[in-house]
Order: sequence, then C-alpha cells, then structure tokens
Amino acid sequence: MKPKPFELERIQSIYENSVEVNLTESGIEPLSIKELMTDKEIDELINIPMSYGYTQGSPELRSRISTFYKDYDYKNILVTSGSSEAIYLTALLLLSRQDELIMMTPNYLSISGVAESLGAKVSFINLEEDLNWSLDLEKLKAMVSKKTKLISLCNPNNPTGSIITKSDMEEIVSIADSVGAYIHSDEVYIGAEFSDDETISFQNLYNKTIVTSGLSKSFSNPGIRIGWLATQEELIEEAWGLKDYTTIASSILSQHIALKVLEKETVQRIRSRTKELLSTNLEIFNNWISPYSNTLSFIPPKAGGFVYIKYKMPINSSDLVHDLRENEGVFLVPGGSFGMDGYIRIGLGSNTETFKKGLALFSQGLNRIFPETF
Ligand SMILES: Cc1ncc(COP(=O)(O)O)c(C=O)c1O
Repeated sequence: MKPKPFELERIQSIYENSVEVNLTESGIEPLSIKELMTDKEIDELINIPMSYGYTQGSPELRSRISTFYKDYDYKNILVTSGSSEAIYLTALLLLSRQDELIMMTPNYLSISGVAESLGAKVSFINLEEDLNWSLDLEKLKAMVSKKTKLISLCNPNNPTGSIITKSDMEEIVSIADSVGAYIHSDEVYIGAEFSDDETISFQNLYNKTIVTSGLSKSFSNPGIRIGWLATQEELIEEAWGLKDYTTIASSILSQHIALKVLEKETVQRIRSRTKELLSTNLEIFNNWISPYSNTLSFIPPKAGGFVYIKYKMPINSSDLVHDLRENEGVFLVPGGSFGMDGYIRIGLGSNTETFKKGLALFSQGLNRIFPETF
C-alpha cells in the first residue's frame, strides 16, 4: 500500500515560501555557509571533488556524531539525508504486517504514515495537556502487547515543546522492555532547550533504542539535509542496506559542512545563538498573548522552538490557518496536522523582526474573523 499524503510536510512545502510571513518556522533561523565557515574553510569546501564518498557517511563524521551517545562509536551511526530518511528507514527496518507501532501524539506524523503503508497497526497515545504535556503511563502500560514492535516518541516534542522527565523515561523503558519492543526516539530538537539542562537521549537508558536526529532544527542547518540513525551496530548495517535503495549516500559536500557544524566550538556557538533567539521571541510572544488569555492559552515550552496554542474559538484549526493565510498572508500550522485539532503551532525560531511582523498579522486576522473576541 502506498503511504498516504504526509499532510504536515506538504502544507509547509506549498505555503511557507509563498506567504508574506511564515510564523511557523519549525527550526531555528537557518545559517548561511558564510556565517558558518571561514574563507579558508569555504575554499576547502569548493575544492572537494563531488564524488559519492562513503555511502554510510564518512568515518570522521560518523565518529563525531557518535560522541553524542553513550558508549557508541562510528559503527553505531548511519548518516542519512535528513532525519526524515532515518525515520523512513526505521519503519522499514522494524515494521511489517502483524506488528504494532504505538506513537505519541501530537507529533511529526511521518513514521505512522510509513508504518500504515507497511501494513502495521498504528495506535496513538496522547500527551495530555492536563498532565503538563506528559503521557499517562498507565495508559501506555495497558496498550502494549507482544505485538508491539516499536514505541515512537519525539523528545523534546514537536509541537508542544515538552520534555519527558527522567523518571517517565525510565518507566517507558521498563514498559517497552516488558514486551521486548524497540523505542524510536526522534531527538532532532535536542540542543534547543530553554534551560541549560540538555535532554537525555533514550539511548543512554535502553539498548533497544533507535535514535533519529540531525542538523535541521536546533543546529539551524535544514538545507544541508544531514540526519542520522544511532542504534545497535547490526541494525545500522541493515539500515545501510536499505539506504542503497533510498538515496545511496548523503551529499559529500553536506557531510563536509556537517563536520564543521559538529566541531565542539561551533556546537557551543550555535546552541547559544539558538537559546538567545528562542528566549527573545518567547518573551515577545508572552507579551503578545497576555491580552488574549481568555481565549488563547499555552503551556510554556521547555524546548524546541515553538508554542502550541489552544484556542476557544469555534473553528477547525485547518480552516483558521487557511483563512489567515489567504487574507493576512501569515502562515501557521494547524493542530490537526499533528493529530490534535483545536490548537495551532507558532514557531519561535524566526529572526525577531519577522516574528513580530507575523504576530501583528495574526492579531489582525483574529480581529477580522472574531471581532467580538479580539
Ligand atoms: C520532529 C521532527 N522530526 C523530524 C523532522 C524531519 O526533519 P529533517 O528531515 O529536516 O531532519 C521534522 C521536520 O519538521 C520534525 O519536526
């Protein structure tokens, strides 16, 4: 069966470049090569022969990525074309008919679409707003069975910005282990925390973890399309075999840039830029939303670069978003695209001028559609 359309990616691809303001940037304002590299490094880059290179990722890049994970080395890493390829390979590796995937929602719903197309059963478990966007683990315990092959989590979570506590992580691991399930942990937002405490990887806690991550979000480099899978060596070997069918290799030029992004000093520089931008925009957002607090509410995000706003107006999230896009030229993502209607996501990662302009257009639209309320 073919995968159904991946609505979230499609609406972003269609609209985010054509509207006046994209108020839902899912990452952090992207960097240019000029901002990232010295003239000497750029010169080195443009002299690299454009060969395929190592199709599983260069040993140097794989080693550098492996340092983010406990007791891993380059053999535990496969470099992919964006973390989206890593997610796709994860589903292909682990799921087939008869298997069950349990997935946290709201979420980036890519793995569920692939799982359904492979004939696997997909069940969803909601992060609960009343529980401060955490999972009810008694529910998870009741859902798992011997058929549960994979539990898919996004931590830090897109779109709520929540982070699973260490004790909940341990409990989730124990639930997964009780039925022999793997954990897929999408950790592409690690490094975009508001506090100085970095999110722990599930790989630290559970051997049967498949981490997908990459440079698109907290590292501000979506355009180089570098992601990775981090997991047990045998699974990496198998995934490499699948990659021969998908993209063969990630661009050799992108891998070279990625090495620079992942140098210790660059990581620190990018992370402090990320934190500063997010904190500035969150403060602006707090001031913006306070007069509307009877109608719009949100739980302050712990990480990730967005706020997930609950609204009380009687309108479907998709209708609201398209009305604002057509009339005010401002684009937001509807909660429905994450599997949870009644919410909209605003991105905090754009440059501050664009962000302010987007909020002004959003206010204008709310006032036009609901003049009694706004
Ligand atoms: C949670 C999450 N995971 C994965 C991806 C895929 O991103 P990429 O392929 O650029 O790494 C996205 C993109 O928006 C995302 O939000």
